[in-house]
Formats: sequence, structure tokens, C-alpha cells
Amino acid sequence: MAALDDRVDVLIEGGVVVRAGRGAGDSLVGQPGVQLVEGAGRWLLPGFIDLHVHFREPGEEHKETIASGLRAAVAGGFVTVCAMPNTKPVNDTRAITELMLARAKEAALARLHPIGAITKGLAGAELTEVAALREAGCVALSDDGRCVTDSRVMRHALEYAATFDVPLIQHAEDHALTAGADMHEGAISTRLGLRGWPRTAEDVIVARDCILAEAAKARYHVAHLSTKGAARIVAEAKARGGAVTAEVTPHHLLLTDASVAEGLGYRTECKVNPPLREPEDLAALRQALADGTIDAIATDHAPHHLRDKQVEFSAARPGMIGLELCVPLLLDLVRSGELPLMRLAYALTVGPAKVVGLEAPRLIEGARADLTLVDPDATFRVERETLAGKSTNTPFLGRTVRGAIDATFVDGRPVHLRRGAAGLSGLVD
Ligand code: DOR
Repeated sequence: MAALDDRVDVLIEGGVVVRAGRGAGDSLVGQPGVQLVEGAGRWLLPGFIDLHVHFREPGEEHKETIASGLRAAVAGGFVTVCAMPNTKPVNDTRAITELMLARAKEAALARLHPIGAITKGLAGAELTEVAALREAGCVALSDDGRCVTDSRVMRHALEYAATFDVPLIQHAEDHALTAGADMHEGAISTRLGLRGWPRTAEDVIVARDCILAEAAKARYHVAHLSTKGAARIVAEAKARGGAVTAEVTPHHLLLTDASVAEGLGYRTECKVNPPLREPEDLAALRQALADGTIDAIATDHAPHHLRDKQVEFSAARPGMIGLELCVPLLLDLVRSGELPLMRLAYALTVGPAKVVGLEAPRLIEGARADLTLVDPDATFRVERETLAGKSTNTPFLGRTVRGAIDATFVDGRPVHLRRGAAGLSGLVD
């Protein structure tokens, strides 16, 4: 089915796209019971999927709850998110998975799919019960935040996951090479006197895992890929026919280690794991996204309290929020011609859906009406007070962004309407 890229009317009835075509709505305008949203000047896209969010429930609800995280998701145009297991306690059992699903159901905003842990307690040693986690609703397994560094454990995890056809998502970091590291290892870390996290710590794990995954015939996915070397290794593994996929975050596509040193320097809001890299990595990541080596854009939405960020650099927790600003920020790359709009849309919909085996949101007749309305020209200022989630740890605070998510629909139901967006007043969310 070719992608639809046209000026059409879209008719939604009973949560489903019943027609999409020119003039499809002409006879209905003004009819009782028909709600009209004038799309003029805006883009209607299939709703976005984020493979990588950290909602802090259970355990750190002061940073984000499942409900607040889902509010941030729909404000960013996401209709589906996959939640990482580094909660407290860790999502390594059916009980935690079920709790997350129940909370998401109560919130009734975006869909949530939990990701279970690969090893118990993320300790890297003992495997979790894949079958039970799968059955409870986990769409993938990951120890994100920690890497499965033991090759024997990783090998068994891949073999076990292959049996159940579950993808394994790796946080690729050789912890022996990053002990005590605060930022990317390079000229800037030297200047700031901060311990560096070398690219090789990511590259060696991705290379090893591609070899193990090929042998195990397992589905292997690289989380937040950040180096030019890892992009090359994934491209090679794909060329060999391996079931290897990868995601990239908006911050690794937009920022470099120079951001850490801006202003007075030591900007903890730019501390992320893996760290912001160098311009040559940024260029390689953009290229890999454009040529299909990278399958998905994932936010790694990592809410933290101010107390975890307004401290000295080495004590600050890594991570930044991402859901609400992902698409508005990436539209800069679309405008500059570096990222075709269709590629951006693919990496937020079909690409991530394939990684975890979900139905891909599509704007075709008969599809679920999971849709996002984007105004590419609306501008807004990123402010603590107006962000929808509970945490505001982002280096983009104060920035005026061009491009806004005007509305998000899940099963045809408006779950987000941007205040001030034109022509939406008749809809109630
Ligand atoms: O920056 C990060 N923050 N990277 C991770 O892998 C974990 C995450 C978190 O949980 O805060």
C-alpha cells in the first residue's frame, strides 16, 4: 500500500477511518452529528509510536506517573508508547506489567505497552521469565539504563527470546569502559575536566550483540544509538540479513557535546546516557536515519526532578524529557531538507511498529483512527509551566519552536487538543 501524501478529506466513524479521499466529506458538511475539523495548512499524520519512554511508576511518581507520562505523550502526538522496565521495583514480573497496563487503562489517553526486564532486577545475571512477561503484555525485553555486558547471559537471553519471538532491546554500554564517565570522551570533556564515555564502549557491545543475535536467530534492537561506529555496524549487520534494528533519539540528532559546555558550562540538562556526541556522529546518525539503517525515532523520555539535575555534574542523573518536543524540534530538519517528511513519519510509525510487532498506524480506509494533526507553522515557547508531563528537565526550555501538535486522536477520540489551535473548539477531549 503506497503512502498517502495528498490533500484529502478523512472521515472518521466509530473510531475507524471510513473514507479518505478528495471530496469524501462534501455531502456531510452541515449534517447533524457531523463534526468538522478544517485541516487547512496542517498535516494529518498517522499517530506516532515511541519505543522508548521512562515513566517512573511504580516507584518515583514525583518525577512522572503513567497518567502524566501519557498526557505528555498525546501532547507530543504519540498514540502508543513502550515503557522501559527501570522502575522501582523493576518490571521483571507479571505483577508489575499488569499494574502498568491497569494504570494506562485508567488514564485512557495513549496506548501503553510495557517492556519487561531481560535480567532480574536489571542485575545482568539471572534471566526473567520471558513467557510470563510476554503473556502479561510485554512487547520486548530490555535492561535499559544498564547493559547486559556478560556475553554468556546475553547469548542465553537472545536464544530464549528467539524461542518466544520477542525482540531484545540493548542499552549498549560496556560499563568497564565507562566507569565514572559523565559525558562523551573528547576535546570538550578534557577541557571541562569531566571523565569521558568513549564511543568504543557502545560500538563493542553492538558488534558483539550482532554476532550473538545472528547465531541465535534472534530479533535484536539497539536503543538510543549514538555513534558513527554503531551506525556502521548496524548497517553491516542488516546487509548480512540479520534481524537487527535501531532507534535514535531527537537529542542525538540535534545536539552535540558542545551543548554541555555552553554558557557557564557543566549543563546537567544535557547529561544523558549515552552522552551527546560530536558533529561527525550527528551527521552519521542523520544519514543512517535517512537511508533506513535506523528504523525508528524514540525519545528516551527520561523525567527527572530538579533535585536530580540542580547538582554538580557528576552527581546529576542522566536523561531528558522528550515526548512533547520530539516532532516540533525535528521539523527543523525537515525544513532544512535534511530529513524528508515521509521519512520522519515512517520512523515514528511503521518503523517502530515493526520493531515490536505492533499494528502500524496508517492513514488508510479501514484503519484505526489513531491520528495526529500537526501545524508546521505554529510557534510556541517551551516553558516549565506549559509542559504536560511532571518533569521539565530539557535543555530546550526558553526556546521558541516552530511546529506544534494541534490534536491527537486515539480510536477517533480527541485525547489532546492544543489550546489556541484553530478550528478545534467543537471537539471535546
Ligand atoms: O539518559 C538516560 N536516562 N539514559 C538511560 O538509559 C536511562 C534513562 C533514565 O532512566 O533516566
